[in-house]
Amino acid sequence: TILVLDFGSQTSHLILRRLRSLKVYAEMLPCTTKLADLPFKPKGIVLSGGPSSVYDQGAPHVDPAVFELGVPILGICYGCQELAWIINSENVARGQVREYGHADVTIHSTGDNHVSCLFAGLGETMHAYMSHFDKIVKLPEGFVVVASTKNSEYAAIAHKTKPIYGVQFHPELEHTPRGSEILRNFAVDICGAQAGWVMKDFIQKEIIRIRHLVGDRAQVLGAVSGGVDSTVAAKLMKEAIGDRFHAILVDNGVMRLNECEQVKETLEKHLGINLTVVDGAGLFLGRLKGVTEPEKKRKIIGGTFIDLFEKEALRIERDAENTPNSGPIEWFLQGTLYPDVIESVSYRGPSATIKTHHNVGGLPDTLKLKLIEPLREMFKDEVRKFGEELGIHRDLVMRHPFPGPGIAIRILGEVTPERVAIARAADHIFISEIKTAGIYDEMSQAYVAISQDRAVGVQGDARVYGYIAILRAVKTLDFMSAEPYEFDFALLKRISTRIVNEVEGVARVTYDITSKPPGTIEME
Ligand code: XMP
Repeated sequence: TILVLDFGSQTSHLILRRLRSLKVYAEMLPCTTKLADLPFKPKGIVLSGGPSSVYDQGAPHVDPAVFELGVPILGICYGCQELAWIINSENVARGQVREYGHADVTIHSTGDNHVSCLFAGLGETMHAYMSHFDKIVKLPEGFVVVASTKNSEYAAIAHKTKPIYGVQFHPELEHTPRGSEILRNFAVDICGAQAGWVMKDFIQKEIIRIRHLVGDRAQVLGAVSGGVDSTVAAKLMKEAIGDRFHAILVDNGVMRLNECEQVKETLEKHLGINLTVVDGAGLFLGRLKGVTEPEKKRKIIGGTFIDLFEKEALRIERDAENTPNSGPIEWFLQGTLYPDVIESVSYRGPSATIKTHHNVGGLPDTLKLKLIEPLREMFKDEVRKFGEELGIHRDLVMRHPFPGPGIAIRILGEVTPERVAIARAADHIFISEIKTAGIYDEMSQAYVAISQDRAVGVQGDARVYGYIAILRAVKTLDFMSAEPYEFDFALLKRISTRIVNEVEGVARVTYDITSKPPGTIEME
């Protein structure tokens, strides 16, 4: 394992991602982690970038024990300045100009293999991405310069005898095209980490960790939706502790056509998960009656979910008390992914606690459960691989995300049973056609929304007055920005014909070509 100590840079997680894509296993912990408490011995340590200035009061600093572990260290940006500052606080100061963007790096030939090995195979120059104001102004004692740029004389430094390296630029970014080679040189050649990490190893490790954490008797509760994240987390928990894991699926009446039945079948029959389905359709639709304001709709759905979930959890808890050989419910499983964590914390500083993103809209306090998040270090594509490895069907693993408030935020205006049926039927046709055309995996998310107002049309010889079905399909990498999918026009026309012909209550079909921003992926 390579340990990444995070000083709070927006790109710290990319260091993990790059290392893992090189098949080197890496884990990330806050920069202030006490190294004596580490549950494993890392083969090497990366100090990430960060938003602070090393010389400021209150700036985060690494546990000095990092130098006593005897393993190689690579400092990146702030991490590099940290190495220089620890040796002598006068080594780092604010630069004359902020160096931001592309820079040409000149790699010096030092003639010493030990100091040059970080850049082995890279030649004499490379492009790199810089983003810093502070810089190293004096070469730290014991170090030599390995590379420089126009603005940074000490763009890369290496200790003369110890395996300690620092780079001012960001090798983890795609804008540093050969950055992966630098990280590979560090992790594999310098640290001796094996480049053979596979998902299977991670699964085994995680199962052991969960068993250790939960113990022999305690039980775990979790909400499932049929989405990739909650299903993968649930299957992992099942593998780790069997039927001491209880999954709850709340049918909120605004899932897609036949979705609740399908999710039940997959989780219970195919994955063998101990599942309770709570039928809340009537309650949800009753509370949504007459409500048109989007935020109010979301709040009602979130609140009702919590009410039902809590009730069911308390029931399972009571049952658990009366079951011999099993302990109390102590844990709550959540399928939080790394991007959710990043979105909910801007800075993982020394005193900042890591807040968690609540996929289920917050955990009721009355339950007093501890949170367990086995996927919190993972990215979506990794979770998909993970899911396949756990034997989850590819169709589920590749499923587009589906929002917690379901199609209620795709039915503009009031959610009525009649409009839910229309939205479901139209969405089912759209997604079926996309799958038949073999383009489902080319888009990130697709659905049909239903307008609030109605339009006139002519079908056969009769006048119809119905809703407008709005097709939406987007491509995105991070769901923060998105572009409309460029459909083949003949396919769009076929979808339109099918929806108007087959879904009673729809008079027109339109395709939403708004990007995000200024639009959002969902309608409400
Ligand atoms: P927007 O509409 O904000 O959506 O562009 C970005 C992504 O988030 C999903 N989304 C939600 N997911 N609960 C969820 O679990 C929600 O309340 C929610 N709202 C939006 C949306 O489907 C898209 O993938």
